[in-house]
Amino acid sequence: MINVCFVCLGNICRSPTAEGVFTKLVRDAGLAHEIVIDSAGTGDFHVGEPADRRARAHARARGYALDSVARQFTAPDFARFDHAVAMDASNLSFLRALTRGHTTRATLTLLRAFDPEGRDSDVPDPYYGGDAGFEEVIDICERSCAGLLAHLRALHDL
Ligand code: 4NP
Repeated sequence: MINVCFVCLGNICRSPTAEGVFTKLVRDAGLAHEIVIDSAGTGDFHVGEPADRRARAHARARGYALDSVARQFTAPDFARFDHAVAMDASNLSFLRALTRGHTTRATLTLLRAFDPEGRDSDVPDPYYGGDAGFEEVIDICERSCAGLLAHLRALHDL
């Protein structure tokens, strides 16, 4: 099994959206038995909460179910996951700092390393903005998750 964890700050907007989009993509590709998908936050302030109501509503309207419960990414996760996929540069720096002194099997990447329309840029945080921000996050996740799946298929011979 290949274990993938999407990581943002609060684990209530961006990483649950990436998790929901990637889960559907992987299911539709018939690869659900090969790839396990999760998400987590670098912060702990929303632990135990469902995804943000606005994120869930926008995702639902586009055919995605967001059913994550927020949790914080911790050092033991580095031994569980093959790929930790960060939503922005700040999340990636947090993960890099957290690896120090820990064994890690996880490769750390930015989600938008796989976005042909915004290579290596951040997924903008929609939390303090309006509807357009949530739609943009889904657009970015759709493009980037397609690229991520192609990458994993090539890397793991799926
Ligand atoms: P996320 O968005 O990192 O995409 O889940 C945020 C959610 C909550 C906060 C910040 C970003 N917050 O400051 O509470």
